Amino acid sequence: MQAPKIIIAVDGHSSCGKSTLSKQLARVLHYNYIDTGAMYRAVTLYALRKGLIANNQVDEQALINELLNIHITFSFNEKEQKSDTILNGENVENEIRSLRVSGFVSPVATIKAVREAMVEQQQAMGIEKGIVMDGRDIGTVVFPQAELKIFMTASPEVRAKRRYDELLAKGETVAYQDILQNVEARDHLDSTREESPLRKAEDALVLDNSYLSREEQLSWVLDKVKTLLHED
Ligand code: DC
Repeated sequence: MQAPKIIIAVDGHSSCGKSTLSKQLARVLHYNYIDTGAMYRAVTLYALRKGLIANNQVDEQALINELLNIHITFSFNEKEQKSDTILNGENVENEIRSLRVSGFVSPVATIKAVREAMVEQQQAMGIEKGIVMDGRDIGTVVFPQAELKIFMTASPEVRAKRRYDELLAKGETVAYQDILQNVEARDHLDSTREESPLRKAEDALVLDNSYLSREEQLSWVLDKVKTLLHED
């Protein structure tokens, strides 16, 4: 008999490894992985391409009018063993990670109608369960009934150091203090915005990975999954 499938909601601060953990979990459990940040990024890319963002301002009403024309799906990339984001049939996985998109995604993600449209699509993706979804509001708004909710965090200093090392490895010249400031500013924005702010669901398990390796955090979560599925 096949094990029952559950929904795993992973929320938490930026740059604390939510997508790394979620992808590992999905691979081990043979679940689908949904990166909801990618969906807000795809909407932002659409808005930029249509000229709905000018002079650093998002034309909210114009974007809302376009929402029915924005279709986002995911396609598994066998070669790279990861999901690619598809916007209206086009693979936009690389473009949505650009600095230009990163610069505007926060204001786009605060628009209520945008969030409602994305949440509806995310809920539809979870109908058959067997998914790991990461974001900021998955355990609180998208799937308040998820069987397993993880709230990930790590100290701002640890997160800034990880980003700093990543950028350094890519050959970028950056100052650690600037990155730390950026991490703290994003925490503040994510947690204080009016629409679906980042907060821990009451029944979420906190995973502080400041001093855990990737392997340690994965086995910590897999233990919880096994307990839930009574496989231990
Ligand atoms: O996880 P990320 O950096 O790719 O997310 C991009 C942006 O989208 C970030 O500003 C937070 C926002 N976001 C959100 O508001 N709700 C989600 N469920 C996922 C991401």
